[in-house]
Amino acid sequence: MVSYYFHYSKYISPLVKSFPRLKPLHHWTSRAPYQYQKSKTRLNYTPQYVRTMATNGSSNNGPPSPPVVDKEDVEKKANTLTPAGTKTNNWSKPGPAAFDFRSDVVTTPTPSMLSAIASTTLLDDVFAEDPTTTALETRIATLTGHPAALLVLSGTMGNQVALRTHLLAPPHAVLCDHRSHIVKHEAGGPASLSGAFVEAVRPRNRHHLTLEDVRKYAVLDEDVHSCPTRVISLENTLNGTVIPLSECRRIAHWAGEKGIRMHLDGARLWEAVASGAGELEEFCKCFDSVSLCFSKGLGAPIGSVVVGDEAFIRRARWVRKMLGGGMRQAGVVAAAARVGVEETFLGGRLRESHESARRVAGMWQGLGGRLRYPVETNMVWLDLEGVGVKEEEFMRLAGERGVRVLGGRLVVHYQISDAAIERLGGVMEMVLKGNGGGRG
Ligand SMILES: Cc1ncc(COP(=O)(O)O)c(C=O)c1O
Repeated sequence: MVSYYFHYSKYISPLVKSFPRLKPLHHWTSRAPYQYQKSKTRLNYTPQYVRTMATNGSSNNGPPSPPVVDKEDVEKKANTLTPAGTKTNNWSKPGPAAFDFRSDVVTTPTPSMLSAIASTTLLDDVFAEDPTTTALETRIATLTGHPAALLVLSGTMGNQVALRTHLLAPPHAVLCDHRSHIVKHEAGGPASLSGAFVEAVRPRNRHHLTLEDVRKYAVLDEDVHSCPTRVISLENTLNGTVIPLSECRRIAHWAGEKGIRMHLDGARLWEAVASGAGELEEFCKCFDSVSLCFSKGLGAPIGSVVVGDEAFIRRARWVRKMLGGGMRQAGVVAAAARVGVEETFLGGRLRESHESARRVAGMWQGLGGRLRYPVETNMVWLDLEGVGVKEEEFMRLAGERGVRVLGGRLVVHYQISDAAIERLGGVMEMVLKGNGGGRG
């Protein structure tokens, strides 16, 4: 393998790149990565084309647009690929996601994503040769105001790659909110992958970490008994609530003075931006690294991205490989992710889902229920305990009415249907009227 790679990079790759008649094909019908230009399905991925796609999503400086494909034709073909006996093509509609409030990770990839996948380039991203992947990374770097970006497979991988990239040698600590995903839901990754101590802080205002919280718990001294804070890791949104941009700036300014690196778990930063809390670039500029997810509210099937400066991303690429995250034909992932960014985020679909979330919260509060957190983006936290209802009971009642919930946290993603909201209203009535509690 080593010798293959050595030969490929030393002899074959330069040869292929310098041979003018050989161009990468964008189409699945191609058997090999390079074919003669006479193919009808060829797209000419010149460096200029990749740069333009990366900055405005279009090859002719027009408005952002996915790659040119015949959607009907793609869907027709996809339908013929549906397993025998299946009546629907799962790509053609949200399906069960329309009735699923458990999380925004259940959002179903769209026909546009299928079209983009069908027309993606199929080159190798470990060799950093795939134009669709590179264009996505450049596009995200541009949108976030960072010099570089790296596609990764999941939000967890994004956070862990970023932390491992920042943290060089123990003793070192990561300071974060005690409810953070990196603390609660990443299988102890900071400890096992980075050997890091995690200082999990309870915000005094019960909403978000402030500079005062950070100052109180950050370890700055060189005493051999202490474990110095090397990274402050914030999460935005956290439980659907937003850390204000002004607070991110205060913490970033202080951290910069103390030589502490700033990471943001921005799996749902798109939602904070859609809520009007600040621009994507403004938030991202407060951090040395940010991870963002394509597979939650944006609806892509797979993928996240990490942004940072060139040196950081170079090392992150190395760490990603070490964790087994080097991808070969990554265009399959990048193409759908790109559609999620252009159509769901920039297309304004998230704002609509925030309105629906407020509607759901209003239904609950209208019946006298209380919320555990304010509704600031796409999550509604019902206080079930306050009305004496067990989570299991709520899930059972919802299930009987044909909607899926996971305890009192409702995630109102953009594929939730009006019918689902109506059904949920029925469940709320049963819960609140049936128990008679939680009024006022
Ligand atoms: C805030 C946050 N960060 C990171 C992740 C991890 O994402 P993934 O499930 O893609 O690993 C999640 C998952 O839901 C999340 O909610």
